[in-house]
Amino acid sequence: MADEIFENPRLASIYDPFDSDRSDLDVYESMVNEFDAHTVLDIGCGTGTFACRLAVKGIKVIGLDPAEASLNVAKTKQGADRVRWIHGNALDLPHLKVDLVTMTANVAQVFLTDKEWSETLLAIRDTLHQSGRLVFETRRPESQAWLEWNKEKTYQRLIVPHCGIVNGWADVTEVRDSLVSFRWTYVFERDGTVITSDSTLRFRSLQEIIKTLNDAGLSVEDVREAPDRQGREYVFIARLNEK
Ligand SMILES: C[S@@+](CC[C@H](N)C(=O)[O-])C[C@H]1O[C@@H](n2cnc3c(N)ncnc32)[C@H](O)[C@@H]1O
Repeated sequence: MADEIFENPRLASIYDPFDSDRSDLDVYESMVNEFDAHTVLDIGCGTGTFACRLAVKGIKVIGLDPAEASLNVAKTKQGADRVRWIHGNALDLPHLKVDLVTMTANVAQVFLTDKEWSETLLAIRDTLHQSGRLVFETRRPESQAWLEWNKEKTYQRLIVPHCGIVNGWADVTEVRDSLVSFRWTYVFERDGTVITSDSTLRFRSLQEIIKTLNDAGLSVEDVREAPDRQGREYVFIARLNEK
């Protein structure tokens, strides 16, 4: 079950307005071209912004997410009718082979346990063509991004079509080892409704990620910078180990 922020229809409908700058996706779109990928599986596709962007360009895309409310938002977007949407997680994938698997917007951090992460990587490995690649980003633990997850730094008050004015902000609720928990609070001014959503993300080190990829039969081809988040995140490019 995904977090309330992705599962609750009212929150899923405001995800895009509250995260309107999607220049973070440019690096992934450029890699689709760089690697000449014709088929892409976007794991944790959420409201489908990336999947639809690719679909309108003629790329064959599969968008997978366990949050049905987010998928319902995705299905309203231009290009959505050309995307194959799958409701579930990577373990629910049917047999398919793709050129590229993506996990944008730090989806890799939602896998909290070693088991969940390794099972997901194994499922990804099984969907890749021999020459295929997995690309994903994850925040560097040493940058301690969560220090900025407070009301002062995250507060937004937006006019959202069909919703009216919505206030939203984040607060960290716990930092325990590599797990950071935080709460989003949204206030819908039109009817005074307050909805909160609790999330936890895991911050894995560079070495930990390389090891877990290797254990899943994937090797790191490159670790790049996210151009819009220099020094704060890693962008991993992994391939199947040579047979
Ligand atoms: C921060 S959002 C990113 C959404 C999208 N990739 C984007 O760029 O906007 C994280 C997404 O991961 C999804 N998610 C949560 N648990 C998951 C799992 N076990 N497998 C795949 N996706 C998952 C959530 O439902 C949510 O849509």
